[in-house]
Amino acid sequence: MSAKLEGVRVLDISRVLSGPYCSMALADLGAEVIKVEPPEGDETRTWPPFYPCGESGYYQALNRNKKGIVLNMKHPQGKDVLLELAQKSDVMIENFTPGVVTRLGIDYESVKKVNPKIIYCSISGFGQTGPYRKKKAYDPVIQALGGGMSVTGFRGGPPAKIGIPVGDLGGSFIALSSILASLYTRERQGIGDYIDTAMLDGHVFMLSVMAAQYFADGKAPERWGLEHPWRVPSKTYRTKDGYITCTATSGNQYPLFCKVLGLEELIDDPRFKTNALRVKNREQFYPIVEKVMVTKTSEAWETRFIEAGLPSGIVKNLDQVFNDPQILDRGMLQIIDHPTIGKLKMIGVPFKFMNSQPKKMNPPPMLGEHTDEILHGILGYNDAKISRMRQEKVVA
Ligand SMILES: CC(C)(COP(=O)(O)OP(=O)(O)OC[C@H]1O[C@@H](n2cnc3c(N)ncnc32)[C@H](O)[C@@H]1OP(=O)(O)O)[C@@H](O)C(=O)NCCC(=O)NCCS
Repeated sequence: MSAKLEGVRVLDISRVLSGPYCSMALADLGAEVIKVEPPEGDETRTWPPFYPCGESGYYQALNRNKKGIVLNMKHPQGKDVLLELAQKSDVMIENFTPGVVTRLGIDYESVKKVNPKIIYCSISGFGQTGPYRKKKAYDPVIQALGGGMSVTGFRGGPPAKIGIPVGDLGGSFIALSSILASLYTRERQGIGDYIDTAMLDGHVFMLSVMAAQYFADGKAPERWGLEHPWRVPSKTYRTKDGYITCTATSGNQYPLFCKVLGLEELIDDPRFKTNALRVKNREQFYPIVEKVMVTKTSEAWETRFIEAGLPSGIVKNLDQVFNDPQILDRGMLQIIDHPTIGKLKMIGVPFKFMNSQPKKMNPPPMLGEHTDEILHGILGYNDAKISRMRQEKVVA
């Protein structure tokens, strides 16, 4: 049994988060990912948080299981090397400002000439078309322009940024699915493709049910903080020692919720008998519940909710997350050896199959770690040629 994407080679000239996260997922799935970095390295190598040895945690989080080559693509020879590598690759990923790859002579049209079957994926803030196409973007820009920020935060308060970089990650996931779909098509029809991924499209796609209110009645949704807009009770509550969330909105869940809280009188209260009534009367409902929730610890409530079969969860910080028995049981914390960091903690691989093996996890490459291996092994360059290119600062 081999890894799902064994035999697929990905040429990854992307950096920061959206591209590297996508190519890391492909690497986790078994693809051979060649990360191309400029002589100064992916800029995130200098971004905090730092390990005591000076390595960037940001970079480590996004680049495991890849091979690294340093290649100056602005040098004419560097461009040629890139095109040679593209010729021997199945997928290419870039996430520069639209126009950069054309300037460098490594855009889809140029690569297609040497490899007509390439699957070439561009990730940008807004896509290669439209009035914003030339705008640069990072996660908060996308969360702002895509509407996510407008529906996050407390009622009456300012908008809030979602703590996880969903603006970037939306682009990564759309790129990942598009690449996998294109690999399948290429398998059947023998044709490559150009994928134009926009982080903004990914974010708007994620609005999903939040867009429903606007589509249904033309009103932009408000911010609901820790409450669900259309389901009551569905809220995160303050407890004696923290916070816990519980959703109990269906017909049989609501009475159970009331019983767990010792609020049986609410079951048949005419103000709260149906979800629609509870949504309408939420201002009366929640204060009653909140008064009870603060009387016990989160753990005590969690035990009771589990016994009642209700969907609930204690709000955990990341220390608690990475010590959680379920997360550990699923292998979502991995510890691997890194040449300078030592024991390196990594988020585990979420892709799990019965009929294929996960790949052994390797640490992210040191800058230029596999330059020689790639030039020798994939392009067949000899030592003299590589050392000449090194002297001319084409590779490093
Ligand atoms: C992330 C972003 C804001 C950064 O902007 P930026 O730092 O100005 O970088 P650009 O993409 O415009 O340009 C990259 C430069 O690096 C150069 N470069 C990159 N890799 C190189 C290499 N291996 N060798 C030589 N030069 C290289 C490019 O040639 C370009 O230089 P140029 O403008 O002189 O041609 C922008 O790239 C962007 O909006 N990308 C799309 C959205 C995105 O992915 N955002 C990040 C989300 S995590």
